[in-house]
Amino acid sequence: MAFSRHVRSFVCLVLWPALVLAQPARFEHGAVVSQDRLASEVGAAVLRDGGNAIDAAVATAFALAVTHPPAGNIGGGGFLVYAPDGDEPEAFDFRETAPAAAHPEMWLVDGEYDARRHHNSHLAVGVPGTVAGLHLAWREHGTRPWPDLVAPAIALAEDGFVVSEALASSLRRALRRMRAYPASVAHFTNRGEPFEPGEVFRQPTLAGTLRRIAERGPEGFYAGETAEMIVAEMQRGGGIITMDDLASYEAKRRTPIRGTYRGLEIIGMPPPSSGGIAIVQILGMLEPHDLGALGHGSSATVHLYAEAARRAFADRARYLGDPEANPTMPVERLISPEYVRERYGTIDANRASASSPETFEWPPDRPQTTHLSVVDGDRNAVSLTYTLEASYGSAIVVPGAGFLLNNEMGDFNPAPGRTTPAGSIGTEPNLTRPGARMLSSMSPTIVRRDGAVYIVTGSPGGRTIINTVAQTILNIVDHGMDAQAAVDAGRIHHQWLPDEIRHESHAFPAEVAEALGAMGHALRGTSSQGVAQVIVVEPDGSLSAGADRRWAESAAAGH
Ligand code: DON
Repeated sequence: MAFSRHVRSFVCLVLWPALVLAQPARFEHGAVVSQDRLASEVGAAVLRDGGNAIDAAVATAFALAVTHPPAGNIGGGGFLVYAPDGDEPEAFDFRETAPAAAHPEMWLVDGEYDARRHHNSHLAVGVPGTVAGLHLAWREHGTRPWPDLVAPAIALAEDGFVVSEALASSLRRALRRMRAYPASVAHFTNRGEPFEPGEVFRQPTLAGTLRRIAERGPEGFYAGETAEMIVAEMQRGGGIITMDDLASYEAKRRTPIRGTYRGLEIIGMPPPSSGGIAIVQILGMLEPHDLGALGHGSSATVHLYAEAARRAFADRARYLGDPEANPTMPVERLISPEYVRERYGTIDANRASASSPETFEWPPDRPQTTHLSVVDGDRNAVSLTYTLEASYGSAIVVPGAGFLLNNEMGDFNPAPGRTTPAGSIGTEPNLTRPGARMLSSMSPTIVRRDGAVYIVTGSPGGRTIINTVAQTILNIVDHGMDAQAAVDAGRIHHQWLPDEIRHESHAFPAEVAEALGAMGHALRGTSSQGVAQVIVVEPDGSLSAGADRRWAESAAAGH
């Protein structure tokens, strides 16, 4: 423990300055950046073979489901924002849904909230969306045969791949949660022993499931053998997902959130994500200020940022949830320049405001999620974030099918009206309802300039995602950083409640911390925030990619 703390301090204090000086990866034609080198290479090969950004994103996402098990998945869900060059952008929603038997009070046992049930049980599993979502995006815009996009993942699962240090230590930690599930332990160990870096990890049962998906599309997952194995595991462990829930799952095409910032077009994910709305609000509240002149990490910039984020997160709690369950959600109003100006008007340039008389906190975030960004040779762009919710999701591997189930039901509010100082939100819009999608912070985002793609960005990190993504944009647009510097720069987080600025150690110097304290801000350090993957289209048309070394295996690939 003490050793890992030392390693962390070393990384923060000694390695960060070196990382900040690193150069982005450069490509002429197309680029993929994700949390795993093998997966990025799979996507880049699709681009080299003439596939478009959607083809590459689908292949990369399937590869991540094999090589990056903490978050890459077929048993979870996510969002994809697509911006075809010079054309109307689209959003694909493959968020998990609550099973038909779910209800707002299902996390209470004898009237008491049961966090284990909510986050760490078979009941915490939402109906997975990933396979349906990737297939829908491919059906609409893909150009390569579907089986060809799944094939590299099948090969990685069947032949195996070499376990990295990052994966070995993450698996070792996850094994503690997996102990209750023999199929999970069998899948994620080397004959019962934790994998060591350098050993080969083969997943034959996952290869079998991927083969059914390659051959039959979503039918190979939502019906037949795979679906039966999911339902059998549900019945074994007291879950409520049925064959009907799986058969009726639908990925959706949605209209993206569109806003502007300094003449650029911001294209973000609409509800059930809160990300697009919150990012447009935060950027809009900062627009009146010359942040470049104020400086990155200055007390003025951090203060203004925290105040903008505080307001966006308050609106998130008050208004946002599943769009079908909340038909009166005021989405247009929340992102309108008039409303954003009104919210901005309540910011005092010199003084922190208080978050509210109801002093409740958010439940803690449990890592993690994963993001990939793609730009192809025709300058079509894909920004895709998907997740199992917690690292390794529910920790439940479906016996015989070789993949992890999510614990996304934990993103619903715990119980109606149950807003407590200790940690939960009970507001209406995000209560558990049958068939509903739980509110998300995942924020795949594309920025365009004069109709052409400029920045593709996104990150894991629960609620911190919104701030990580907004800051990567500000770092490039206002602070003139390149893609790698924008990713490496220290990050801050404010989410309304708790009323504090969380920050990485290299986000600002000690004197800024002091100045922020004097303005009335509470500060709390965090070892690391997010794992952003950014592509920037340079003025000469070439591509720069910033892979986030907060996860050591992050890498860009392209041609
Ligand atoms: O959808 C959401 O907002 C969360 N389930 C994402 C979880 C996450 O990013 C944790 N990652 N580090």
